[in-house]
Amino acid sequence: MTRQPFFYDITLRDGNQSLKKPWNLKEKEFIFNKLVNFGVQAVEAGFPAASEMDFEAVQRLAQIAPDNLVISALARAVEHDITKAIEAIQHCSKPRVHTFIAMSPFNMKYVLNKDPQEVKKTAIEAVKFARKELLKVNKNGEVQFSIEHFGDCMENLPFVIDTLKEIVQAGATVINLPNTVERTRVKTFVDMVAQVYEALPKDIMIAVHCHNDLGMATAATVESYFAGATQLECCLNGLGERAGNTNMYEVAVALHNSGVDVPLNLGEIYELALTVADMSKTEIPEKAPLIGPEALAHRSGIHQDGAVKTKDMEKGAYRPIHPTLIGRKDDEKIGFTSQSGKTAIFEIISDAGYPITMQEAIRITPVVKEAAEKVGELPTRNIIDIYFNEVFNVKGDFRLVSFEKLAEKLFNLKFFHKTEFFDMNAQGNGPVDACLSALKQAGYPQKLVDYEQYALDSEIFGSGATAMTVIHFEDLEGRTIIARGKDESTSKANVKAIFNGLNLMNHNNLTNK
Ligand code: KIV
Ligand code: ZN
Repeated sequence: MTRQPFFYDITLRDGNQSLKKPWNLKEKEFIFNKLVNFGVQAVEAGFPAASEMDFEAVQRLAQIAPDNLVISALARAVEHDITKAIEAIQHCSKPRVHTFIAMSPFNMKYVLNKDPQEVKKTAIEAVKFARKELLKVNKNGEVQFSIEHFGDCMENLPFVIDTLKEIVQAGATVINLPNTVERTRVKTFVDMVAQVYEALPKDIMIAVHCHNDLGMATAATVESYFAGATQLECCLNGLGERAGNTNMYEVAVALHNSGVDVPLNLGEIYELALTVADMSKTEIPEKAPLIGPEALAHRSGIHQDGAVKTKDMEKGAYRPIHPTLIGRKDDEKIGFTSQSGKTAIFEIISDAGYPITMQEAIRITPVVKEAAEKVGELPTRNIIDIYFNEVFNVKGDFRLVSFEKLAEKLFNLKFFHKTEFFDMNAQGNGPVDACLSALKQAGYPQKLVDYEQYALDSEIFGSGATAMTVIHFEDLEGRTIIARGKDESTSKANVKAIFNGLNLMNHNNLTNK
């Protein structure tokens, strides 16, 4: 589809009118500048007849608006409101009066107390008046007309369409179809949009304006675009009356993911969302799509595994977009609960800067899970504590008592195996060699495959630990056992690693004699 969506922002009008403390001129101007940066094509700046403060704000925004931006002002279908709107926006390069009246049978009868013909006449006259007066002061002026409660016009749609044809003849160039209260199916609404689109001349821009009462406003807006609506009326952060208006970020990303050329700076979304939340004193819900603090969190073991395997890819197994598309710098979050698994432990420990192998992660998983069962999501600190306990202090039948250097190439090793005490002197080129030799003499020969030695980062490991040894043993079944030891002294780190390794070995494979 080549038709580009036209993003019409209603944060400063529908969003603002729903705030507990509507924005003043300075606040509106601040958000307005963000909207310009974001790249929206039109801003509904306010409802000038609502209050002097709103009049002044709309007037100011119209003065500072860039030339390519449509500035719209809302007005009921009455001359007083339309005159106020025109007065506020007349000096910008693309002014638009947005006038509206309800046409649902229910609203005409119970709220307006007017019969349909009377409503039709009011609408047509309002559009004619708006066009005539606006063109007197600005030749680029245009008129948008909205049928409030369009979503409730299923039974009288033929009447609505006939009226819209006359409204277009009267001079409206944008016809907005609001789902003022979302009550039923998305498909019902979208089918109605499609019928209006088919019935009106193709140079008329069809707009949709969906409220989110049932949580489907994004779906209704996105599908309406594919049914012919070009102007998409949305609010930043989904602000707006009651459950809000269509969330602009969700629509933009859904269209982008569907291959539509979206004329917005998507990379601004996350920052913008945080700013709007702050300015509107409306916290972003934890689970809000795309921008919620939890929107990138994984807690189930299966999801964590998929997320980790695809984290560096453009498409992720368990996320709709790469977070950087919307300027989110935080990565997918891995939290450990009783539902999580080894991948989470591996990621959390690695991310915290500690060395861990998948073998070690698998080994400590039951202990971490048991802790999580009691408290829910485990703080990283607790997982690290378990890691230290389990990885650097492996409990088992072997217990190191001491390891001393007696002379050049001569060492003494004291240890217990179960209750049996050993006090062995052994020669060796270094501590590892001598310790293995002492164990062999005691009847516990080990096959050392590899060993590495590291200097530890004291910021992570604490000032007491300076050396870490990693030893790789092969057990009698040919499996490699990896164990670690840490200490201020390198030789003690070596011996601790060996004893942790001994305790990790299958005890049945260890022989004393
Ligand atoms: O929700 C609505 O119907 C409106 C109109 C004024 C467009 O906000
Ligand atoms: Zn609305």
